[in-house]
Amino acid sequence: MNTKAVVFDAYGTLFDVNSAAKKCKNKIGDKWEMFANFWRTTQLEYTWLRSLMKRHKDFWQITEDSLDKSMSVYNIDKSLRDDLLNLYKVLSPYPEVEEVLKSLKKKNLKLCILSNGTPELLNELVSSNNLKNLFDKIFSIEEVKVYKPDPRVYELPIKKFNIQPKEITFLSANTWDVSGGGNYGYNSIWVNRNNSQFDFLDYQPKNEISNLSHLLDIL
Ligand code: LAC
Repeated sequence: MNTKAVVFDAYGTLFDVNSAAKKCKNKIGDKWEMFANFWRTTQLEYTWLRSLMKRHKDFWQITEDSLDKSMSVYNIDKSLRDDLLNLYKVLSPYPEVEEVLKSLKKKNLKLCILSNGTPELLNELVSSNNLKNLFDKIFSIEEVKVYKPDPRVYELPIKKFNIQPKEITFLSANTWDVSGGGNYGYNSIWVNRNNSQFDFLDYQPKNEISNLSHLLDIL
């Protein structure tokens, strides 16, 4: 493996997308996790559908739209809307993230984020969690205004660093994103946090890890 840059997906890989709803679980009740999963699935569906329809809206607007649909499906009290959105801006990172990034930094690898999020959202996420100075570059799909897994998204770091796709090690917990990066030519690693099954989308990752700390054994 000749890795020159380690590129991380953000939502679900570095940051826990369910942490916003979890922090409101006393008010939402037992259905908080089903509601959180539905919100996430709807949000992703909207990214794919908008890219296919060529009707781009940024990730924050999509996050709001998908929240509105999910609150109505799960009959969530409207007073929670602002709380959930504010918490989504400062999602918690997974527990191992900071240590792993610090260790990788010592190996002189370029560390990046490549995400559907807007530059403002991603900046707030890393700043609010004190991770900002660990990254060399944060790539947002807003540069191309099309969502993952369009190959134009995975091309962004290649153009910026003038390196080969195979020189990028890409990490995502989203199976379809692993396939998107892998089909583009990255060495994609699946962060299988929930012991789930991989997809049949023309790419099988050589490495599967249950959390990011195992990356240190691979690189
Ligand atoms: C992202 C979504 C796919 O951060 O999790 O791009």
